[in-house]
Amino acid sequence: MSREPGQRLIVKDRINSEEDAHYFNEMYEDQMEWTVSTRKRLYRKMELFHAKTILEVGSGTGAILREIQTINPRARLVGLDWNLFALKFSQVESLSPNSICGNGELLPFSDNNFDITLCNYFLMWVKEPLAVLKEMRRVTRIGGWIACLAEPDYGGRLDYPASEQWEELLLESLSAHDPYIGRKLRSLFHKADLQVEVGLQSSVLSPDIVMDLYKAEFDKLAHFLGENSAKLAKLKYILETYSPADRFSFMPVFFGIARKI
Ligand SMILES: C[S@@+](CC[C@H](N)C(=O)[O-])C[C@H]1O[C@@H](n2cnc3c(N)ncnc32)[C@H](O)[C@@H]1O
Repeated sequence: MSREPGQRLIVKDRINSEEDAHYFNEMYEDQMEWTVSTRKRLYRKMELFHAKTILEVGSGTGAILREIQTINPRARLVGLDWNLFALKFSQVESLSPNSICGNGELLPFSDNNFDITLCNYFLMWVKEPLAVLKEMRRVTRIGGWIACLAEPDYGGRLDYPASEQWEELLLESLSAHDPYIGRKLRSLFHKADLQVEVGLQSSVLSPDIVMDLYKAEFDKLAHFLGENSAKLAKLKYILETYSPADRFSFMPVFFGIARKI
């Protein structure tokens, strides 16, 4: 994509009502489907099944916490987020997790507290990702695990047929702090004094999922541009012109995982 890597965009809070929380929860659950196999491998590596205390930083509507709950129902799960609508949704939908309103850059927990501290699609949204990782390390017990399960890098996205207009608008509407965070994971973990394994979550999406992805992105753009925008009409044309079988889209999504020693 054409924006300079590292360039910061204006960040708007995206969940501003209960309705938004429902809408974004559906989106987070779809995203989870696309990265499920690698995430399960990471859960096995961290022995998540045996963990007694697990913290998710930036837990949003609780989609990841609900998945973890089905894998390890005995663990004490804590979700931290600073969005009250997302937290409320998470509290209502999940069976038992503790929801805490707080800032991931300054975690309200004592040192060496959790067996596993993880996040998912989170670092790209924060102002100071290094501060977050250092905090994740601090609150994790020695021998415990710190994991960023999925962080994308929009600079490596490949689309066929390519549409610069679509890509530019997508970045605008995304309004993440750093859409190029994926390539920085290794360096961030290193600076947080963690020996990291970095890997790729992504695989090539099937035609059905590519169309789901485009439709979800189109929806987001419609929300961002307004239903009557002329730009939206052009994007609709792009969406409708090519059949799923002709389309290709690849988004590199990275993970980073480390043990606190
Ligand atoms: C894309 S969502 C991911 C939600 C969840 N991890 C998932 O994968 O379903 C990112 C979440 O981070 C939260 N967030 C962003 N910056 C934060 C910060 N500094 N402290 C706490 N939460 C933050 C947002 O409110 C949002 O709920």
